[in-house]
Amino acid sequence: MNQVYEKVVKCYESIKDRIPLTPKVALVLGSGLGNYADTMDVKAEIDYSEIKDFPVSTVPGHAGKFIFGYVKGVPVVCMKGRVHYYEGYPISDVVLPARLMKMMGAEILFLTNASGGINPSFSAGSFMLIKDHISCFAPNPLVGANIDELGVRFPDMSKVYNPELLEIIRKTAKECDIPLHEGVYVQLTGPSFESPSEIKMLRTLGADAVGMSTVVEAIAANHMGMKICGISCVANLAAGMTDNPLTHEEVQEASNNAAPLFRKLITESIAAFV
Ligand code: HPA
Repeated sequence: MNQVYEKVVKCYESIKDRIPLTPKVALVLGSGLGNYADTMDVKAEIDYSEIKDFPVSTVPGHAGKFIFGYVKGVPVVCMKGRVHYYEGYPISDVVLPARLMKMMGAEILFLTNASGGINPSFSAGSFMLIKDHISCFAPNPLVGANIDELGVRFPDMSKVYNPELLEIIRKTAKECDIPLHEGVYVQLTGPSFESPSEIKMLRTLGADAVGMSTVVEAIAANHMGMKICGISCVANLAAGMTDNPLTHEEVQEASNNAAPLFRKLITESIAAFV
């Protein structure tokens, strides 16, 4: 068996008896959403550290576990904390959790993150529905022998973000009176923030928001045929757009402030998916 796939299978085998439900939605919680489980009917939790060889995040505020439960009656597996490529893990480990959640039965991958706003019409604390991405600055998680059990060698990426899910999220945002921008998310490796010239380049390329996650997970999930959607919380305007230097603390604070509305948008969208 392909070694990357074997690792996913081993992780699954080691926890499958502790999974209390078949999740419909796999929800990845970005910065600020760490307390999302408070709004769930939680049935079980599994610390990443209890799963042999599972990549464990080293970022403050990202320590992790899977949380299983119901969001308005919808069975969900939630990732509290994700690993990032900049932590030094191979890219196959960065997407291992997404593959594992598909193996648990999840059909929908709901990605969230915090980002820097590149589009000048965005402001700190606003939300952006991810309608497409730019992946070419991050390593492609499908490089290496294809995992035939999961998907094809050359997967189409023309509609990574599922049009029906996006429509549901738009409608939900409107009903909840939550302003929602739309745009293209670009993933860079980090961990350094971008330079002003890089931001100018990314804007020219068509990106509206920049971050250090999400796209590689979306590629791996699309390879497996999952339905994908994503919302980014614009935590700050990107480098060079204001006079302020960027800090992780500022990103966390802005994400925390936006969290109540973000939680509501996620919860109501998940309820509307079924
Ligand atoms: N750049 C990259 N990643 C980020 C940013 C940013 O400005 N803000 C939050 N995550």
